Amino acid sequence: MKNSEADTSNPETSEWYERAFQAEYLEVYPARTVEAAEREVEAALRWLSPGSGDRCLDLCCGAGRHSHWLAKSTVDLHALDLSAELLEQAQQKLPEKVKLHRGDMRQLPFEDQFFDHVMMFFTSFGYFEEDEENSRVLAEVARVVRPGGGFLLDLPDRESTLKSLVPNSQRRVGELTIEEARSITADGKRVEKQVSLKGPSGEEGYIESVRLFSAEEVTSMLKQEGWGDIRCYGDWNDQPHRSGESPRMIFSARRSQAESK
Ligand SMILES: C[S@@+](CC[C@H](N)C(=O)[O-])C[C@H]1O[C@@H](n2cnc3c(N)ncnc32)[C@H](O)[C@@H]1O
Repeated sequence: MKNSEADTSNPETSEWYERAFQAEYLEVYPARTVEAAEREVEAALRWLSPGSGDRCLDLCCGAGRHSHWLAKSTVDLHALDLSAELLEQAQQKLPEKVKLHRGDMRQLPFEDQFFDHVMMFFTSFGYFEEDEENSRVLAEVARVVRPGGGFLLDLPDRESTLKSLVPNSQRRVGELTIEEARSITADGKRVEKQVSLKGPSGEEGYIESVRLFSAEEVTSMLKQEGWGDIRCYGDWNDQPHRSGESPRMIFSARRSQAESK
C-alpha cells in the first residue's frame, strides 16, 4: 500500500472523519454491504463507460466494497482512502492487482491527468467545514483526471434527508448497542449524527457531520472546478434526480477538454 505525503499517522485524531471511519465502522453499518454495491458499480460503468485498461480511481474506497466489483471489470483499478484500518480490510479482501493508496482527498498523491475516471461512492463528500475546502476536492479530482475523463459523485438527496430525519434511534448489532442522535445545524447546512456505542469493552462516542448540498450548489461547484457534461441521477436505475423525491443525488461529469478551467 502506498502512503501519500499527508501526515495521517497521528493516533490523537481531531477531525470527525478520522475517528468515525475506523474498524468498527463496518460493525456500525452492516447494511452497507458488498452485495448492495454491485448495482451501483454497474450503473457507474454504464454512465462513465470506461474503455478496457482505463485507469480508474475508487476515491474514498473504505473497505473496498465497490472496488470488489470494479476489479471484475477490465479497468486498471486504484483505490484510495484515509483510514488505515479500512484500507487493511480492503487489502485482505481485494485481488492483488488493485492498487491501494492511503491519502487525503484534498491532496491526492497522483500526477496531473493520471486517471481516465474517478468514482466517489456513498456520501464521501461534504465532510469539511468550509465550502472552499469541499470545492478543493472537486478541483483535485479535476487535476488528476485527463481531459474528457469522467467523474461519478454519489450524494444523498438533501430534501429527502431533511424529510426523513429520525432524531433518535437505538439498535443492536451483535454485542454492540448503537444509539444515534441526528440533527440539522442551525444554519440548515449540515446533518450531524452523534453516535454512541456501548459494548463489552465499554462505551464511546463520536460525531459524523456532513454538508447537505442542493443539486444546484453541486452543479455550480462542479462547473467552477472545470467539470462539464453534468448529469444528475436520482437513483441507480437511471431515473433523473428530483429534489425531495429521489433517495440519492448522483452526478456524472466530464473533465472539460480544455486543460485549464
Ligand atoms: C461513507 S464512507 C464510504 C466508503 C465507501 N465508498 C463505501 O461506500 O463503502 C466514507 C469514506 O471516506 C473516507 N475518508 C474520510 N475522510 C477522508 C479524507 N479526508 N480523504 C480520503 N478519504 C477520506 C473514510 O475513511 C471512509 O472510508
